[in-house]
Amino acid sequence: MSLDAVSAAELIAWYAEMGVTEALDETPHDHFAAAAEAAPARQAAARLVPPSQQAIGRAPATPLAPPDEAALSARALARDATTLDELKAALASFEGCPLKTTAKNLVFADGNPAGKVMFVGEAPGADEDRIGLPFVGRSGQLLDRMLAAIGLSRQEHVYIANLLPWRPPGNRTPTPQEVAICLPFIQRQIELVDPEILVCIGGPSAQGLLGVSGILASRGRWMEYDTGRRMIRAIATLHPAYLLRQPVQKRLAWRDLRAIKAALAAL
Ligand code: URA
Repeated sequence: MSLDAVSAAELIAWYAEMGVTEALDETPHDHFAAAAEAAPARQAAARLVPPSQQAIGRAPATPLAPPDEAALSARALARDATTLDELKAALASFEGCPLKTTAKNLVFADGNPAGKVMFVGEAPGADEDRIGLPFVGRSGQLLDRMLAAIGLSRQEHVYIANLLPWRPPGNRTPTPQEVAICLPFIQRQIELVDPEILVCIGGPSAQGLLGVSGILASRGRWMEYDTGRRMIRAIATLHPAYLLRQPVQKRLAWRDLRAIKAALAAL
């Protein structure tokens, strides 16, 4: 391959990584004129269209519902799912979250749903999006090593999911609106798995599920998570992606892991 071809391939890979997955046409379009003609309902739906699509004035194949409607529909779909398979199918059919339009795959869960501990991360990254499973990239490998350090494996003892089942473009932090829309699904997933211990990995998961902000202050404290049917012991810990950047903080994560191990031993 020529140097130019290599640079072009790298540039395209970088664009894809950043979430720029739409190509522009060669001929210009008057999107202001097109927008003026759009029906009011279409304009309401377009508020949820990701910026990459807004820039070229294109609505998704299935118009997205306004956020309140999307959250209501998510709640109804999640409530009607009585098994994890039904919940996964409900998510796969859900068109209310804009992240679905840019993600490659739905990332539902991995591990053993009969395990006593459920870990919930933030959202899939590039590797997870490509493979369709949570925590399979570098931070997932660190998570597996952390689990192994307290005698747990995802095949046997642990069930793993994310607050959001679709990758935010470029791994950006999910917006509060995206979290609100997807929350009923992860809440129902926790209710159906019904673990003995819930571990929120990182700030967004702890904030979304336990209502606590500031992960460094809230990690390592036992709390209660209300599934609506019963209370589950819950704890927040540091995200492995953060630990890869700040290895000195691994000692705090180790304390949390030991607390989880002790809680499991006491069951
Ligand atoms: N980070 C997360 O929070 N979840 C994943 O699945 C991968 C990385």
